[in-house]
Amino acid sequence: MSRLTVVAYTFGVLFFLVGCAFSVFYGYKVMSHDLPEEDRNIEDYKYHFVLVPEELDNDYWRLVEKGAQEAAKDYGVLLEYAGPKQANIDEHLKTIEMSMAAKVDGIMTQGLSDEQFTPLINKVVERVPVITIDTDAANSNRIAYIGTDNYYSGYLAGKALIEDTKGQANVAIITGSFYANHQQLRVQGFQDAVKSEQGIKIITVEESEISRVRAAEKAYQILKDYPEVNAFYGTSALDGIGIAQVVDKYKKNDTIYIIGFDTLPETLDYISKGIIEATVAQEPYEMGYRGIQMMISLIEGKSVPPIVHTNTRILRAADMPLSHLGGQEAGY
Ligand code: BGC
Repeated sequence: MSRLTVVAYTFGVLFFLVGCAFSVFYGYKVMSHDLPEEDRNIEDYKYHFVLVPEELDNDYWRLVEKGAQEAAKDYGVLLEYAGPKQANIDEHLKTIEMSMAAKVDGIMTQGLSDEQFTPLINKVVERVPVITIDTDAANSNRIAYIGTDNYYSGYLAGKALIEDTKGQANVAIITGSFYANHQQLRVQGFQDAVKSEQGIKIITVEESEISRVRAAEKAYQILKDYPEVNAFYGTSALDGIGIAQVVDKYKKNDTIYIIGFDTLPETLDYISKGIIEATVAQEPYEMGYRGIQMMISLIEGKSVPPIVHTNTRILRAADMPLSHLGGQEAGY
């Protein structure tokens, strides 16, 4: 070996070692940044799971996290809540990959699309068990799904709209995302429910990108572009709120029907004020709590049903106050 080769070889090895040290350090930091100081001893826990939602800073997902954290506490699990602060597909996928690299014991995440999530889930599940939550990637090899039956929930919304508008409405749909499986199913279910109704027309379908501000902008634009619209259907937690803000401000005296999704406090306020007529109530807290239980069962070799649908129902002003909801799903 020439001297030059030896020097080049030594440098190569050095670079490789420094690279490894960086990855380990960076990986550790990423996976532990959310842990409170006193909780950092991973050996104190039986299992280490990660919950990766499409958006951390979202009140709906905070409820899923709340359920999951409570179950984690009850069963001795270290649970991290990690992912994009604001909806971002690349960051979402990267967090799933990083969780796999960190060798956690289980990953709970949404299966947002067949194009990008299914291949990644199939790769990850070879090494770490994956449960989809809230949104299923039904064609992937995920071990189980827990969450709403999203097609059925859209169907329920359509039936509620027919009932409340006596079968006469020009509807605009604002959906969280054109890309995501659950949002597509919620639109599809709704379209199927209203398709045989002569008096119901779907005028336009727009996208809010999981943002209440964007939902409000879209609602404003729709009312300008399509003056015949007299009903809205919002398919994710912030859509109904964004639509209601606009209707409350500019169309208070017109009869505009709104049906939304979820039972966040602002949605309930708009229902009690009569601005939102109805909402599809999901059970985010339950999804989180039971998701952890399912993950433990499957790690411990117990049989787990591949699909667990949490409850979905329509909630109107007449159903308030919400004491019968037990508070959890209502966001308190
Ligand atoms: C959906 C979640 C979504 C959230 C957005 C909910 O209705 O189930 O998947 O992230 O709305 O605000």
